[in-house]
Order: sequence, then structure tokens, then C-alpha cells
Amino acid sequence: MHHHKSAIFLDRDGTLIEDAGVLSNPEDIRLFPDTIDALRQLQKKYFLFVVTNQPGIANGLVTAGQVAEMNKSLDGILSQEGIHIRQWYVCPHARKDRCQCIKPNPEFLLQAAKDYDLDLRQSFVIGDHPHDVLTGEAVGAFGLYLLTGHGPKHLDELPQDKLIFHTLGNAAGWILKHPNAERDITCDIQLGAEAIRRGGLVAFPTETVYGLGADVFNTDAVARIFEVKQRPLHNPLIVHVSEQRQVKPLVTHISRTAEKLMERFWPGPLTLVLPKADIVPDIVTAGNPTVAVRMPANKWARELITRSQTPVAAPSANAFGRTSPTTARHVEDQLHGGYDVLIDGGACRVGIESTVLSLAGSTPLLLRPGGVSQEEIVEITKAIEIFHPQNKTGKRFESPGMMFSHYAPSTPLLLVDDVEPYANRSDVGVILFQNSAVCFQSPASVLSPSGNLREAAANLYQVMRKLDAMGLSLIVAQRVPNNGLGAAINDRLNKASLKSPPPPMCRNEFI
Ligand code: TXA
Ligand code: MG
Repeated sequence: MHHHKSAIFLDRDGTLIEDAGVLSNPEDIRLFPDTIDALRQLQKKYFLFVVTNQPGIANGLVTAGQVAEMNKSLDGILSQEGIHIRQWYVCPHARKDRCQCIKPNPEFLLQAAKDYDLDLRQSFVIGDHPHDVLTGEAVGAFGLYLLTGHGPKHLDELPQDKLIFHTLGNAAGWILKHPNAERDITCDIQLGAEAIRRGGLVAFPTETVYGLGADVFNTDAVARIFEVKQRPLHNPLIVHVSEQRQVKPLVTHISRTAEKLMERFWPGPLTLVLPKADIVPDIVTAGNPTVAVRMPANKWARELITRSQTPVAAPSANAFGRTSPTTARHVEDQLHGGYDVLIDGGACRVGIESTVLSLAGSTPLLLRPGGVSQEEIVEITKAIEIFHPQNKTGKRFESPGMMFSHYAPSTPLLLVDDVEPYANRSDVGVILFQNSAVCFQSPASVLSPSGNLREAAANLYQVMRKLDAMGLSLIVAQRVPNNGLGAAINDRLNKASLKSPPPPMCRNEFI
């Protein structure tokens, strides 16, 4: 019998090494911290290839000779670490220079398959550009997208159903657990669906954050969600559906505005609070006469719901009051196996929870800013009211998501307009919105180098977690522009700051 090998095709810049523009000098090679380890793990099972797209050649910014020199140098560094790259492919990305990789004919992949007797359907392409993923998929390989390098910048161009990861190490870990990619994740989904049907709990990815789900009609299972999360029973859950027709039995009435909002934003990060039907158990809605419903954009989340044959009640899969999980690893770290199945679908694309909008009153009421911006909603609803927990004069407490006690790291966090005063404090972590001219001695993380709010939202919880793990005395976060997704980001940072314990020192600095 013929035995084919499987391969991993890795993009060079932004995937293996930092993408510092047109790289021509071997001295500029900077490996990512987990590159070596990831490649070591992968080469135990896979042939490794590097593909480097170099439009710089076509544009005359770098010569083919310089690219070859860089590759040779990087190959030397990797060999020293015991990593064997079978072949280095360079594509100049211009037709006149015989670009080989523009769809639908990625010649070099087919060539590699022939030369090395590869089964491309058991192979993977990893890169930080949508092109990398699509090139691989054009020949039957599975594409994984990285948020390193240019990944965040081009995320909007990546088709919705692709898997994304924060680092090469995370992608490698996923591949080793899912060697048959699509087939393996489908199998996890099936196991998850069976668990939900049996009354179990399943942690699953959505485009916003990971959820911890149960059959909405199984009150014992729903009660276990509250137990595992240590969530107070007065905080209601969102009911997730995979098809719009699943909403009708859950509510007494769907208004024209609700219909229009669903049409425009579903599947996606908008949760609608509607008058509830009797069949929705009280434990789900915390005794409220309303129920929150949403259809997630993540295709695996919808597949799970469909196969479960029931709407799925699910809060974010974090311990109560802690930062929401945006990777499967975050879920493991927080819930310590308090679920029956954990479906690993990589990193969450939006990275911040859904917008919660109540349609129970006469005017749509924004209860929680989130993945769909207020501006976008107003285009449909015309009018909108914003719920402020501070001045709830006479108003019933509408959504515990508005409570301060959410989304907090355990290190004290301060939300400020100017982070510069903290630039020299090695004990203070700084969350910057975008690249800054100021040189920070303190551990600083940038949410979006180019100042893009979508990118910033996708990185927010990951950055909060990273700084929280460093044992610092304080984290200061720079307020982001308050438009679009910025309102949701500021809201989370604000809640994290109000929740957190008072900063330990230099109080007068914070006033
Ligand atoms: O993006 C999301 O919405 C994620 C993913 C998993 O879908 N889920 C999520 O769930 O963030 P959770 O439980 O962490 O937040 C749900 C929010 C809470 O603020 C809750 O108070 C509010 O929705 N909510 C749920 N039902 C409600 C209701 N009937 N009336 C008012 N607010 C409600
Ligand atoms: Mg939550």
C-alpha cells in the first residue's frame, strides 16, 4: 500500500519571524518566541516547507538574491535547532515574474506534493495573510490563520469560517490534536451535541468569546452552568440558536424591528432581549419576563446547536467576574474541566461579547455595548436608549451584564486618558491602544498598532490576561476612541477598573 506523507507549509514573514517590512538583511531575523518549539513538535509528524511571498521582488524593493540569502540564513538558524525545512519556496507575487501561487493554481504546492509524495488533504498551510489560507485550501489542504504579523490587519478579509490563532504555537497544538482537521472538529462537535442532548455541559467557540452551553429546556443542566461558573442565579443566560425559526417558540412576539435587526446582524454578535414564552425555564432568564436570544456567526457554534436539536443556553465560559475566554486554553485554565466536552475552535474573531439590546420596552434599550456598534444598530432602529447602571433612578435593574463585577483581571486595573506617566514603571503594565512614539520601559502591550478598533477588540482579553499573569502591581489602560467597537472596549476596561482592588501604591498619581 502506498503511504503518503503529510506536510505543513509555513509562511515566513509574520509566521516564523517578525514581519519588519521588506526583509533583506539576515541581521533583521527575529524569531517569534514559540517558533522553534512549534516546529520541533510539528516535524515529528510532518514534512516542513516554507513559503515566502515576496511582492518586494516584483516591486523592486528587494532582489531575488537577497531573499535567497535571508532564507539561507534562517535555514541555518533552524538547522542548528535541529529543524529540517525540506524546501523553501519563493513567490514574487506578480504574474510577469511567474507568480505561482495566485489562485486557483498554487503550482508550488502541487509540485511539492509530487516531489515529496504528499497527501495535501492531510496537510496544512499556516500564515498571517488570508491568501495563505486560501492558497492551501485551493489544493485541498487545511489553512490556519495567525494573528501574528499582518494577521490582525487583514482579518476582515478572511472568510468567516476559517480558524484563527494568536501564535504559531497555538496553531501547532491544534494541528497535533486535529490531524484530520475538518473531520476531527466535526467529530468534537458531534460529541458535544450528544453531551448536550444527554444533559451535559459543552464549552464551545463563538465569534465573540467561548460559551458554556446546555440544553435550554434541561433545568438541571442549566443549573450546573451556574454552579460551574459560580454565577449568581439572578444573572440570566443568553439562548443561542442556529436558525431564526428556533426563536419563535421562545418568545411571545417578534416585532418588525426585531425582524429587521435579525435580518441585518444575524448570524453575528447581537443579542436581542424579547418577551419570553412560558416554555423557557425561569432559571434561564433568572425569573425575568424576557429572554435573550442570539445566533452566533461562528459556523462550528451553529453546527453544535443544529446537531444538539435544541437551542443552547450559554453564558461566557469564564468563572464569574473573571475575564472572558477567547481561546480553548483560557476555558481550561478557568473552569478546570467543569464541562463534559470542550470544543477547540481556535481564537475568537471578535474577541469581545455580543451587544445586548432589549426590545421589551417601547424604545430599544442598549444594555451592553459589544460586537455590533451602537451606530450600526441606530441605522436600523432610528431611536435607541442607553442603559446606565449609575443612574438607575426608578428604573429596574435591567441587565447584570451592566454590573461592575465583570471582566476583571486580578491585578488592579486603571483606565486613564494618558498612560505616559507610567512609561518608566517596571511594576506597571500598560495597555496601549496603538503604537506610540513614547518608549515604554514598563511592560506595554499594544491593542492595535495601526489604531484599528476591530483589531483592538480581538486582542483585548488576551492582552489583559497576559499582563495579569506577570505579577505586576498595577495595569493601566489607555482609553480608546469611543466610537464603533471602541464603546464596548472602554466599557469592559471601565468595568475591569471599577471592580479591581485599589492600586497598592502612589495613590495620588491616580486621581
Ligand atoms: O457574546 C456573548 O454574548 C457570549 C457568547 C458565549 O455568546 N455570551 C455572553 O453571555 O457573554 P453572558 O452570560 O456572559 O452575558 C449575557 C448578558 C448578561 O449581561 C446578562 O445579564 C444579559 O446578557 N441578559 C441575559 N438575559 C437577559 C434578559 N432576559 N434581560 C436582560 N439582560 C439579559
Ligand atoms: Mg460573561
